[in-house]
Amino acid sequence: FLPQDLKGLNFLVTAGPTWEPWDEVRVLTSRSSGKMGYAVARAARDRGAKVTLISGPTGLLPPSGVEFVRVTTALEMKEAVERHFEQADVLVMAAAVSDYRPSEQVAGKIKKGPEKITLELVRNPDILEELGRKKGKRVLVGFAAEAGEVVEKARTKLKAKNLDLVVANDITQEGAGFGSDTNIVTVLFADGRQVQLPRLDKLTCAHRLIDLMVKLIPGREAQ
Ligand code: C5P
Repeated sequence: FLPQDLKGLNFLVTAGPTWEPWDEVRVLTSRSSGKMGYAVARAARDRGAKVTLISGPTGLLPPSGVEFVRVTTALEMKEAVERHFEQADVLVMAAAVSDYRPSEQVAGKIKKGPEKITLELVRNPDILEELGRKKGKRVLVGFAAEAGEVVEKARTKLKAKNLDLVVANDITQEGAGFGSDTNIVTVLFADGRQVQLPRLDKLTCAHRLIDLMVKLIPGREAQ
């Protein structure tokens, strides 16, 4: 019964955390489950879009009917997103990309030793910010998981990354945190509009977000 309102569109969706190795056993990562991004990929698929899902390491099954690309690190994710960006009409960056990676990966396993050791981190490239500079007619959607002053921080990101829409959620709120099956989001648009969605299961939330995205796609404003 779903409307096939995304027919003819290519959705590029990222999801999950990245893993930044510091030796051959250990990684630096975040608590992202990937559920929100996978829900967006499913919802877009069910409405007729051609979907590519680029996923960091998650415990989730790849959804059927989408092109699935498995990556580990932020640098791999960047490479995969760039490879698919040209054909994309809509990019939804739901992945929790690690902002930093260990400056070097140690071969083997670091042995227990001194009381205190130091891990040096270097900045990862900001995938979305770089693509924001060459977005063309594409619709760019970012996520902003924040703790406190969520809307202000999300609006700053929207501007810095040249996004059309940013989905902000307060990770300290009950029912909105990492791994949760529900989400409570505030959607911010480049034109200053702001829409608050109630607590919804992630698939329903994904559909409501897509409803808002569709209207930003050139030629589909009236839907
Ligand atoms: O990390 P930050 O809060 O700035 O992330 C906001 C948005 O930017 C998210 O959509 C995330 O996927 C994206 N991002 C990215 N590359 C990074 C960090 C974040 O594309 N290195």
